[in-house]
Amino acid sequence: MSGKLINGKEIGDLIRQSIQHEVNDLQEHGITPGLAVILVGDNPASKTYVSNKQKSCEQMGIYSQLIELSADISEETLLSEIDKLNADSAIDGILVQLPLPKHIDEQNVIAAISPEKDVDGFHPESVGKMMLGQPTYLPCTPFGVMKLLEYANIDVAGKHAVIIGRSHIVGVPMGQLLLQKDATVTYCHSKTPNLAAMTTQADILVVATGRAKMIGAEHVKEGAVVIDVGINRDENNKLCGDVDFDSVIDKVSAITPVPKGVGPMTITMLLFNTLQSAKKKVS
Ligand code: GUN
Repeated sequence: MSGKLINGKEIGDLIRQSIQHEVNDLQEHGITPGLAVILVGDNPASKTYVSNKQKSCEQMGIYSQLIELSADISEETLLSEIDKLNADSAIDGILVQLPLPKHIDEQNVIAAISPEKDVDGFHPESVGKMMLGQPTYLPCTPFGVMKLLEYANIDVAGKHAVIIGRSHIVGVPMGQLLLQKDATVTYCHSKTPNLAAMTTQADILVVATGRAKMIGAEHVKEGAVVIDVGINRDENNKLCGDVDFDSVIDKVSAITPVPKGVGPMTITMLLFNTLQSAKKKVS
């Protein structure tokens, strides 16, 4: 069996078309959605992510403002930049690109963002509401994965979903969203002994480890659905996921490729969340 590809570029484009219509409608009401992105320091990967977010905003007619701050900025100055954006009526969404330099407390920074503008879904209030099943803004990557599964007609109810990775950005909320759709969820992480014994029980395997090609055929059950959240470079500097695609493709029933899998969905859901925030201005 050769697995079906779940094409995040195509699914993302479909969702972007409907976002585009809604942005146009808002503009007829004189409202332009606005996203502010704060980039601290010059981490090359973060710069690429931020520039892709900005390009996508421009394509949609969403106003985007980039605030670039040097790596040695104080936490206090960063918090005061966030305060200004909280008060700026042209800005509907605020995103602070992570990771931040070590001397800055990420949780303090995230908590300073107004929950109304927390389009990343990382604020403790957004996380709490998500856990209660009363979501405000869902974190973009797990939200994008749920959309991929929905558009690919993969029903998660009653399935065993195994998540590898327990970050607050991906792994933890991913399990929660799958649980809310009636999956049975197992979390694995770097301290899980005998990883393959767990992952080979997965009907749906979500891999978010940040380690290039660490998951191979020996970790995957025949017919499983594999969602690869990783974006890495292999030994030939080619983009690759956390899953060794070539090793598992004949064993899985469906898989997200890298690139054109989960990646495009993360930005799509950021645009979606920014639009939801801006729509609150229509009375
Ligand atoms: N760094 C890696 N992924 C993300 C994300 O989704 N949002 C932010 N703000 N930073 C990130």
